[in-house]
Amino acid sequence: MRVTVYSTRPYDREFLTRANGAGRHELVFLEARLDAATVAAADGAQAVCVFVNDRADAEVLRALHAGGVRLVALRCAGFNHVDLVAAATLGVEVGRVPEYSPYAVAEHTAALVLTLNRKLHRAYSRVREGNLALEGLLGFDLHGRTVGLVGTGRIGACFARIMAGFGCRVLATAPIANPECEALGVRYVELADLLARSDVVSLHCPLTPQTRHLIDADALASMKRGAMLINTSRGAVVDTRAVIAALKSGQLGSLGLDVYEEEADLFFRDLSDEVIHDDVFARLLTFPNVVVTGHQAFFTEDALSAIAETTVANLDSFETKGHALHPVSIEYLA
Ligand code: NAI
Repeated sequence: MRVTVYSTRPYDREFLTRANGAGRHELVFLEARLDAATVAAADGAQAVCVFVNDRADAEVLRALHAGGVRLVALRCAGFNHVDLVAAATLGVEVGRVPEYSPYAVAEHTAALVLTLNRKLHRAYSRVREGNLALEGLLGFDLHGRTVGLVGTGRIGACFARIMAGFGCRVLATAPIANPECEALGVRYVELADLLARSDVVSLHCPLTPQTRHLIDADALASMKRGAMLINTSRGAVVDTRAVIAALKSGQLGSLGLDVYEEEADLFFRDLSDEVIHDDVFARLLTFPNVVVTGHQAFFTEDALSAIAETTVANLDSFETKGHALHPVSIEYLA
């Protein structure tokens, strides 16, 4: 099957080529993102393979369908960037990678907590400059502190285990309690209670209409003064402008982000020779108590192998049986 693979970096090509074995599918790798301007590059392909910042809206899906595409294979778990109603109407199958390595994301979340708490980002630069003073590097013991998780699916549960290992009290809020977390001693509470009691709040829910800007000015105001906020889920779960105001007032003590609402025009590219035009993002980078990584939480060898293998399994299944191994159906919107 001919597959146009959008938004590829050298590591995507390496892992997908390996998973594709002796070349079962003809993979055409493009660096460009999928959008209305690049959709024509898929003409003649039966499938496109896309990542988190590609845009499969109704217009793009109609153009893909007209060009012969019948499968959108996502190299990620989230599908908030695909118009599922339009895909179902056109008869375009959508497949995803529901699970690859929750450990990768949970461990990166822990890395952000530790970096911010012990100021490793500042210590690293200081020591290299010969500054071995400790002023400004004061942290706190995680042991005995309260960590609040918003969402306890695969990644949230894994992060709960890591934080429990540090001796933290773990609170959580989610529509459905996870028995694995309950067995670990995680206490389920309302969001308001979680925000009021947590020293660290970490987001592990999907981006849905209900979770968009879940952490807004009111939510930030109800947090403990000086608490830490970590977002490795999806950028728009947090209202970035409200977060900047809370950082300026000192209400928010520190912020770790692996995702950003407007990341599509920034992330996965080397912009070091360019001027950043996004003033909100640029402002975030000025705070000493903010650490931003560019959607790298998933980025481990284990996760890339699993993503590539499941993606090729989705392609195989669609070619032989007419549906992806892990389809995303319109019912997911319910
Ligand atoms: P999952 O589907 O296993 O778990 C999601 C959890 O969120 C479930 O417990 C669900 O009940 C809960 N939830 C849904 N709506 C909620 C709400 N309104 N309030 C509180 N909880 C709510 O998903 P998984 O695999 O744990 O991934 C979590 C998120 O992490 C993904 O949706 C994705 O956005 C993000 N992610 C980020 C990556 C990165 O590299 N930064 C990589 C992979 C996923």
